[in-house]
Amino acid sequence: MAQIIDGRAMARALSDETAARVAAMVADSGQPPALAVVLVGDDPASQVYVRRKISECARVGIRSVEHRLPVDHPQDALLTLIDLLNSDPAIHGILIQLPLPPHIDAALVLDRIDPAKDVDGFHPVNVGRLSTGTGGLVPCTPLGIMRLLDSVIDDYRGLNAVVIGKSNIVGKPVAMLLLEREATVTVTHIETLHLPDIARKADIIVAAAGAPHLVRGYWVKPGAIVIDVGINRIAQADGSSQIVGDCATQELDHARAVTPVPGGVGPMTIACLLHNTVLAAERART
Ligand code: GUN
Repeated sequence: MAQIIDGRAMARALSDETAARVAAMVADSGQPPALAVVLVGDDPASQVYVRRKISECARVGIRSVEHRLPVDHPQDALLTLIDLLNSDPAIHGILIQLPLPPHIDAALVLDRIDPAKDVDGFHPVNVGRLSTGTGGLVPCTPLGIMRLLDSVIDDYRGLNAVVIGKSNIVGKPVAMLLLEREATVTVTHIETLHLPDIARKADIIVAAAGAPHLVRGYWVKPGAIVIDVGINRIAQADGSSQIVGDCATQELDHARAVTPVPGGVGPMTIACLLHNTVLAAERART
């Protein structure tokens, strides 16, 4: 049987560390780290994610400031809000929940965030820092994936890593982090030809294509480590829905280790957001 990497337990341990750092900051300065969370519109999945992020902030002692804006909120007004948050010394992190409504240019909005407060790591300055290995804030899901991998891998040198998915949020940044550890990285996506053959050569598979049960047992070589980033909602015959990942996990007994969905990458993403917020606050005070 493959080892199941327990993302919930690892997220709890990381959040406990973060809570201790928050307590130290409060003892030192009397002020907790603060995260501004901006949600435009009423996308149901985004509402769930934002609620979860805010409740986790409270659990570790981070102050969160929520800005819920209507779906037709003008772009200019959103940019003005970001300017205000950028210049507010009591705000250490700014998170703009994606996706944004179609009338808003997401790239323009993300570019407006002060890179030092960009706890999502999406600003071009932080993307550039990641690609040159020069610090900055690292996107939360890739950061969480590396912590999950670090629990089963000591040395990445000589390992083949195949990333499935080329998004700015997961695929591209996790490829950079794996390269930094000197793995040999292949970035693939849903249009890649002979994807099962490429995946079968991998020691590490990171599946982030957003395609339910894409990665089948025969795609995975014995002993490989599989990180499942997918969160796909599948309608059931009885009208309910079920969340499944990008991997057919029940076919992966021959893997060395796999992450479950739910309970793998998801909890680590939020724990890493809290970690990034405290990091941004600590850096702002030094
Ligand atoms: N929407 C889906 N994933 C993310 C994320 O990591 N950060 C933000 N801000 N929005 C998202």
